[in-house]
Amino acid sequence: MHNTQLIRFKRHTDEYGSLTPVEAGVDIPFDIKRIYYIYDVPPDVMRGFHSHKNLHQVLIPLNGAVSIRLKTPFEETDVHLDKPYEGLYIGPNIWREMYGFTPGSTLLVLASEYYDEADYIRCLNVYKNTYPFTQNGDIK
Ligand code: TYD
Repeated sequence: MHNTQLIRFKRHTDEYGSLTPVEAGVDIPFDIKRIYYIYDVPPDVMRGFHSHKNLHQVLIPLNGAVSIRLKTPFEETDVHLDKPYEGLYIGPNIWREMYGFTPGSTLLVLASEYYDEADYIRCLNVYKNTYPFTQNGDIK
């Protein structure tokens, strides 16, 4: 999907376990200003249902699994995240819905900006009507 990308991180695995380093500007295509994590999500709950005007994020399933539905006015795709060494980059102007959190799962989110409610679009119709690009990617 346009403006999203799966990122595979390094893994250091030996008989003592595994370690994955994540470095801003190296493994993550932005400087990290904020992290947060989503956990204790009951079965069948869906979260998200918003896009961001300027925020860049990377979602990493530290344990368990979660599915992410990504939408633009022209595309839709589902990404399943179940590896702690794989993250999903989501750029600005992408609608996202998160579902299928497995019991006990923790989703880590790395974000390029501090929390700002004014950066959210939480209405799908507003999102579609204000989407800044045409189908071939030109600015409207
Ligand atoms: P929200 O972004 O709506 O969660 P999701 O998209 O996963 O459904 O955030 C849920 C609540 O947490 C909302 O009241 C805003 C608050 N919040 C913060 O205070 N700081 C943050 O960094 C984030 C992401 C959310």
